[in-house]
Amino acid sequence: MQYRELGRSGIQASVVAFGAWAIGGGPWWGESDDQESLRAIGAALDAGINLIDTAPVYGFGRSEELVGRAIAGRRDEVVLSTKCGLVWDTADGTPFFEQSGYTVNRCLEPASIRKELEGSLRRLRTEVIDVYHTHWPTVPPATTSIAETMGCLLELQAAGQIRAIAVSNVSTAQMDDYLAVGRIDVNQARYSLLDRTLDAEVAPYCVAHDISILAYSPLEQGLLTGKIGMDRELTDDEFRSSLPWYKLANRRRVLDLLAGWADLTAHYDCTLAQLVTACTVAQPGITIALCGARKAAHVLDNAVAGRLTLDPAHVRRMRQEVANLGQPE
Ligand SMILES: NC(=O)c1ccc[n+]([C@@H]2O[C@H](COP(=O)([O-])OP(=O)(O)OC[C@H]3O[C@@H](n4cnc5c(N)ncnc54)[C@H](OP(=O)(O)O)[C@@H]3O)[C@@H](O)[C@H]2O)c1
Repeated sequence: MQYRELGRSGIQASVVAFGAWAIGGGPWWGESDDQESLRAIGAALDAGINLIDTAPVYGFGRSEELVGRAIAGRRDEVVLSTKCGLVWDTADGTPFFEQSGYTVNRCLEPASIRKELEGSLRRLRTEVIDVYHTHWPTVPPATTSIAETMGCLLELQAAGQIRAIAVSNVSTAQMDDYLAVGRIDVNQARYSLLDRTLDAEVAPYCVAHDISILAYSPLEQGLLTGKIGMDRELTDDEFRSSLPWYKLANRRRVLDLLAGWADLTAHYDCTLAQLVTACTVAQPGITIALCGARKAAHVLDNAVAGRLTLDPAHVRRMRQEVANLGQPE
């Protein structure tokens, strides 16, 4: 496994990380098996994956609870990453989405962050969070200034409750506002070979400011592993049904693209998930591939990508072929 420093934090994280959204279950992911989720996290640590990313809102506490159980006794092996800013047990903030009978609000008020952190520390059975993200920026009507949010995060950092300060789903202008107050070391953002929006502005900005990018949904929720075929039916609730590349006409194009990489998987003696993940972390500015998983077999597959280095000519070819694919209909 290769490891990279997160920003200037001194924290070394595995280039393939474990994303713990799906283990929270719920309508977006369908039912999850907690025992299998625990095995998956154990398998990740055994395979050298040290960064585990979760959030309070994933399964409304369930994901954090499971991560806490899985890492009990192994805390010193883990770079523990969680988030604040999506709350469901208060009327504070601005409504974002409804799920499982809850209204989830965006809120980054200092008092709310402190309350959320207490909940995360309890569920994760720890005294410190290594990477603490603001999950989504606030929006009107209940906007909190970035200066106020960042002031609170700096206090929590000074108190030793969080180590690296991180942001997610932000623009470069918002990162400017964070950096005007203090240091951020990580930006967690959506990035996959099929969605390289970050290349234009955010990735160069992060490189210039020594901010590591944790690329989320790098496998396009499984599509880029080649294991989601044309016959896979999606329910309306399932998160994947909101992703344009899953529409059948678009999915066909992606599956044809992946089939064209058979020579590469043969050359490296690897799976498509490994090829795609290795290519993702070879992109400029992309530090970590935050691969979601809830099965030990998937974790073991993805972890191998952490020791696979692709020939730059192959990386260029894959980029070009994805570019040739164009946009989804
Ligand atoms: N900051 C944010 O706003 C944000 C947003 C989204 C995600 N994230 C983070 O990023 C992580 C990853 O993103 P993601 O879960 O959306 O997408 P992803 O990593 O692209 O896909 C994860 C899903 O792909 C399937 N999969 C993974 N490895 C596989 C393999 N080797 N073979 C076959 N299928 C495989 C699994 O689906 P099944 O379990 O259904 O089999 C898995 O749950 C999340 O867990 C979360 O930590 C953050």
